Amino acid sequence: MGSRDQIDLSKLPKHIAIIMDGNGRWAKEKGKLRVFGHRNGALSVRAVVEGAVELKIGYLTLYTFSLENWNRPKIEVMAIMELIVNTIHREIETFMDKNVRLNAIGDLDLLPNKCYNELTNAMDKTSGNTGLVLTLALSYSSRREILRAVRNIADKVNAGELRTEDIDEEIFEDNLFTKGMPNPELLIRTSGEYRISNYLLWQIAYAELYFTTKLWPDFRKEDFFEAILDYQKRERRFGMTSEQLN
Ligand code: FPP
Repeated sequence: MGSRDQIDLSKLPKHIAIIMDGNGRWAKEKGKLRVFGHRNGALSVRAVVEGAVELKIGYLTLYTFSLENWNRPKIEVMAIMELIVNTIHREIETFMDKNVRLNAIGDLDLLPNKCYNELTNAMDKTSGNTGLVLTLALSYSSRREILRAVRNIADKVNAGELRTEDIDEEIFEDNLFTKGMPNPELLIRTSGEYRISNYLLWQIAYAELYFTTKLWPDFRKEDFFEAILDYQKRERRFGMTSEQLN
């Protein structure tokens, strides 16, 4: 029986976040340029989105480009931006067909115009879709997101719209990029690195973490299903005891 058949459809995570890592190493192993790894990484994105649609997962959030990634060599940054444009362009009809809504979080104003326009057009076009919400974290830094929320809230307090004592988790979450989304229950990281790398720090407070040594371009639908199966075997206690849960 394949892992897909073992998945309990009544116990799926509503939101899965992924740190797609290892494209560069994958290419290097093959004696190719890093961009070759990113291109093959885009095929893994396609496979995972397909898997998420198949299982009717609500939200899939992919760490596509971090704020820190702007410091990579210009040629690599430009190649990734071009790949993002081409991938969105190529996949938009599939998104419409599969009822996928494209969304993005991060400092999007830093994106090159062409990328920003392709992205926002696709977000507009898919805005009425009601299936999977596919969020690309682009030019994203979780610490920046948290600072931005603090500033927004401080502005509201200064303007007399909010009292300090009324600030709670819900108000804080309403000021994050992920407003309105459930917090991820499962976070997957590929490539054998055991770090969070400034990704969704607030949102993953209770997420189950799944690490695999597979490099991102080798991570396909079956691996995605494996991660979900692993998640389903865990007991999520939220600070309580096993006995309380049972
Ligand atoms: C991390 O591997 C990967 C990235 C920084 C880029 C990921 C982008 C894609 C897969 C393109 C997807 C496109 C869309 C539209 C979602 P790395 O370069 O850090 O690998 P390394 O750690 O082996 O060097």
